[in-house]
Amino acid sequence: MDEYRVGTDTATVAHALGEPITPWQGGLVQDLVPRATASPNTYSGIFGLDRFPFHSDLAHWRTPPRYLLLRCITGHAAVPTLLLDAHTIYDAVTLDVLGRAIFRPRRPRDGKLTLLRLYEPTEAGGCFRWDEIFLKPASRIGDIADCRVREELANCKSLSITLARAGDTLLIDNWRMLHARSPIPLGREDRKFQRVYLEGVR
Ligand SMILES: [Fe+2]
Repeated sequence: MDEYRVGTDTATVAHALGEPITPWQGGLVQDLVPRATASPNTYSGIFGLDRFPFHSDLAHWRTPPRYLLLRCITGHAAVPTLLLDAHTIYDAVTLDVLGRAIFRPRRPRDGKLTLLRLYEPTEAGGCFRWDEIFLKPASRIGDIADCRVREELANCKSLSITLARAGDTLLIDNWRMLHARSPIPLGREDRKFQRVYLEGVR
């Protein structure tokens, strides 16, 4: 949505569009700004201003947030957001393999190490999760799926969406679409988005 409700704060926009969740204290609206250095436990800490790889958000959660809303505060046409439909991966790797591929979070969460499948059927048509940093294969089929998904991601065509003007808003189905950030060119470090997770949309 181009220049959607400019002048209205992102929390109000999110409440108008669906049911926002607060994934951690103070996290209803999250500021996303490029950082050359950051905590090593984050994408910015690992990739800095380089391209972020395709992933779904909070893929290590038992149930990742259903939707994410991205809203441009300061944008640049040179920094598109890339999207990839998981159906491309379903076709290449098969739901059978993805549904049997067991992964685990890189670190225990709340002291527990949960085993997760890359694909789980749901009433909404399935939930695909992918995060090459924070999820690790934990079974033989997991290893096979890991290789095949990576191969597919290296070769597939993605969709490029530019949120360049204040208020430009993108609602992503986090169970179906993977997203990635293109690299931040020199001089574009002031790019700022806000993000809100939603469990439902109106
Ligand atoms: Fe993300």
